[in-house]
Amino acid sequence: MEERRLGPVIGLGTWNTFGRDSATAQAVVDAALDAGCRIVDSSPMYGAAEASLGAALDSRRDVSVVATKIWARGVDEGREQFRRQLEWFGRVEIEQIHNLVAWEAHLEWLERERAEGRVERLGVTHYSPSAFGQLADALRTRRFETVQLPLNPHERECELELLPLAAELGVAVIVMRPLGEGALVRRTPPESVLDELGVETWPQALLKWALSDERVDVVIPATRNPEHARANAAAGTPPWFDDEQRRLVERFAA
Ligand SMILES: NC(=O)c1ccc[n+]([C@@H]2O[C@H](COP(=O)([O-])OP(=O)(O)OC[C@H]3O[C@@H](n4cnc5c(N)ncnc54)[C@H](OP(=O)(O)O)[C@@H]3O)[C@@H](O)[C@H]2O)c1
Repeated sequence: MEERRLGPVIGLGTWNTFGRDSATAQAVVDAALDAGCRIVDSSPMYGAAEASLGAALDSRRDVSVVATKIWARGVDEGREQFRRQLEWFGRVEIEQIHNLVAWEAHLEWLERERAEGRVERLGVTHYSPSAFGQLADALRTRRFETVQLPLNPHERECELELLPLAAELGVAVIVMRPLGEGALVRRTPPESVLDELGVETWPQALLKWALSDERVDVVIPATRNPEHARANAAAGTPPWFDDEQRRLVERFAA
């Protein structure tokens, strides 16, 4: 699989998939890691997903890259979330401030955690274009190394300001919702279109569509199905789409 600044370009999301179902978590995480994925994304917002993920990674923690989040209005609550994450994961490679919640307050103590080696990189996330102006302001502080945002043929607002800004500042980009929370995979285009794109499945076409923008470092599709995790990982290998192939994907995603 191709590697960019954060490692292999296909990761794994954990929102609304396995929750506290540890058997499903184990099967999905094993399938993703076996297929070459490394980044796993979670959050205290996703119920028991972090705990299930920690258990599933267990013996393979050294080959995984944990990207999780702090989602708390106050510093004490945020620090408690971090304390539990250290129990589950040992360390956190990418600690993101979820939806910009209290980001200035959290940055101060998270920067200390990074200086002491318990966190490798700091990031910030938001799902809504209405907050992209604030997300850009946060990036301009130059205190973040990653940004997580939505990008798929139906959600392209980040192309206006955030992707150029991230490229200018050297901030790595993590793409959430590459399959539109599943809405984009309900229809499949004809086989001839997949052939033209050089992919086996429509989800692979959507993942390649995002990764064909070289400003993107990793996409993190979520699944509760190990077969889907394997198929998604296969989209992480070049060649990437040219402009014409990207437009073809956009036409069938419309
Ligand atoms: N949504 C948000 O607002 C948000 C916000 C912040 C962060 N994130 C992060 O970004 C991650 C990804 O976003 P997301 O989970 O919202 O949406 P997504 O990854 O775009 O879509 C997930 C959906 O796609 C389906 N899917 C995945 N692979 C498939 C395949 N090969 N074939 C058919 N269906 C497939 C899954 O169903 P199956 O289980 O059936 O495969 C699931 O319903 C999240 O899990 C989370 O870690 C999301």
